[in-house]
Amino acid sequence: MTAPPMGTPPGPPVPDVGIPPRLARRMSMAEQYEYLRTKFTRRRALVSAGAVAGGLLAGCSGPGSGSDAATRSPSPLSGGSTPTERVDGAVVTPFGRHLAFGADPRTQMRISWQVPLTVRKPYVRVGLKPWELSRKIEAEVRDLHTPGLDGVRLALDQFYLHAALDGLRPGTTYYYGVGHEGFDPASKERHSTVGSFTTAPARAEKFVFTAFGDQGVTPDALANDKLILGREPAFHLHAGDICYADVTGHGKESDIYDPTAWDLFLKQTETVAKTI
Ligand SMILES: [Fe+2]
Repeated sequence: MTAPPMGTPPGPPVPDVGIPPRLARRMSMAEQYEYLRTKFTRRRALVSAGAVAGGLLAGCSGPGSGSDAATRSPSPLSGGSTPTERVDGAVVTPFGRHLAFGADPRTQMRISWQVPLTVRKPYVRVGLKPWELSRKIEAEVRDLHTPGLDGVRLALDQFYLHAALDGLRPGTTYYYGVGHEGFDPASKERHSTVGSFTTAPARAEKFVFTAFGDQGVTPDALANDKLILGREPAFHLHAGDICYADVTGHGKESDIYDPTAWDLFLKQTETVAKTI
């Protein structure tokens, strides 16, 4: 995947994960990942044993860690570290939030998002007012590892988080924030990350929905997202193809899967999918 040529509309916003924004815009997700990993691995060598004992970078039990993580091969550029080494949660910003109704759209919502590095205790807070969010509702971590291919692709770990909200009120707008240890969406400095969604009404009534497929990650795709927002749909039906992570698209074993295409897509679509 190549960067759009100069003069095209700007791409999706780059999440603030500790890389200077001007630099981050020129980097692919994989490059950002390696930048952060190198940065924090270097920092690790400088922190005292006391800081490690305090939990800053110490391994701990929990989703995505443990023996499975310990046996994973490090990326060729990692300098021996693995992406499951934890960093201070304050410098890891969630991105790619996307919503989906549960089986009952009146009372159930599923919230998913991503973090670029391993975090502890990810969660959602939800409430009827943006300034009145609930206690933490634990999220499930799904850690996806894509092995590297010589000369083609670096190994990549992706950390997806999922939370299920049940027992919601029909026809009600809720506010929510996603976080983890060190990053609390209810705190003053993180409050701009709070999003919202509306559950389906208790009784059937007229509604608008939007639908299309073959979106990908391009300036045109971003423009289509803006069209969706303008319609204020109750939901969007995405028919696929979604992000074209398999560039050739032949569905054959010889196809080369690019996991970073999903990162780009989920960043692009967040403007819509965080509320619709
Ligand atoms: Fe297609």
